[in-house]
Amino acid sequence: MYNSKIIGLGKYVPDNVVTNDDLSKFMDTSDEWIQERTGIQERRWIPEGSEDTSSVMGAKAAKIAIERAGLTKDDIDFIVFATLSPDYYFPGCGVQIQDLLDMPTVGALDVRNQCSGFVYALSVADQFIKTGMYKNILVIGAEYHSNGLDKTTRGRGVTVIFGDGAGACVLSREEDSSKGILSTHLHSEGKYADKLIVASPSIKHWVPEIIESEEEDISYYPYMDGTFVFKHAVVRFSEVIMEGLTKNNLTKDDIDMLIPHQANLRIAQFIQKKFGLSDDKVFNNITKYGNTTAASVIIALTEAWEQEKIKEGDHVVLAAFGSGFTWASAIIKW
Ligand code: ACO
Repeated sequence: MYNSKIIGLGKYVPDNVVTNDDLSKFMDTSDEWIQERTGIQERRWIPEGSEDTSSVMGAKAAKIAIERAGLTKDDIDFIVFATLSPDYYFPGCGVQIQDLLDMPTVGALDVRNQCSGFVYALSVADQFIKTGMYKNILVIGAEYHSNGLDKTTRGRGVTVIFGDGAGACVLSREEDSSKGILSTHLHSEGKYADKLIVASPSIKHWVPEIIESEEEDISYYPYMDGTFVFKHAVVRFSEVIMEGLTKNNLTKDDIDMLIPHQANLRIAQFIQKKFGLSDDKVFNNITKYGNTTAASVIIALTEAWEQEKIKEGDHVVLAAFGSGFTWASAIIKW
């Protein structure tokens, strides 16, 4: 049995910075409200006319990750792509990566687990490597939120939170079982699906029906019961981190770096306090990028690594919670 190890990391965010003050020009919100509730100062939104999409941004991040891994596209055996904002209803973004990177006809899989998507995708890739089926897997998280948000005051509770971007890593076979991904932990609770949802268009609410409907609750835009989600997030984050530590006979004192999904700075601060972690042991970049859903954990991991905040032998903990509900953690020995 092999282990799996991250050997290359990359990220891509659009250049276009949208500040809180920019948002207040087209909806009733304020920099003060957004910073106080979420910590977010600005986010990146793909500008009009750009060719970027989830798959295009994912490909840009992937190229960097492959290069930093010291590999070429031809060394990649499989693709796992996590997003809630695919370019098309179908096919998924994974196959577009195969095409955009001009790769051989390797398998490509899409993961639809929203904010937990990257950790789920990493777990899937980890299993393929541990069984010996594949050697090098490209794992990508990318989101193009901005084109699907309600940019009026009606949508302000959701729209101010989300940003666009992509991150990618190459997960590779590791012979030393004490190194790499030690374990992953995945959960879901579908009874809360409607607490954070884009309900249409879907097979249940297909396009003609939406156009003709006068019902206000059939919407193209994301709906979130923010307070409900917040309460569940803080509990599930803590549980799934503890589950991972316990599985590996570790304690909170063994955490060298916690990379929480960047949902809300207040959630991350709550978790930090609960686990008694000092500021240098938790990485946050939500202030700059907002919540980039399936891209958030991998963008944050990439930046933490780029800033040399992670060193060999560190215990790195990834944790996420989001729509589904789904939540997940990964315990990594770097
Ligand atoms: N600007 C100004 N006022 C606003 C805004 C805004 N952008 N948004 C909402 N408000 C108003 C509301 O209308 C409400 O006004 P009222 O009291 O007059 O009715 C008031 O502010 C309070 O609204 P709440 O929704 O109760 O605000 P809350 O403190 O809960 O903060 C937030 C909202 C930031 C969304 C928070 O609930 C949150 O972060 N929730 C968790 C998000 C999360 O973790 N999501 C999971 C990942 S996302 C994924 O999986 C896709």
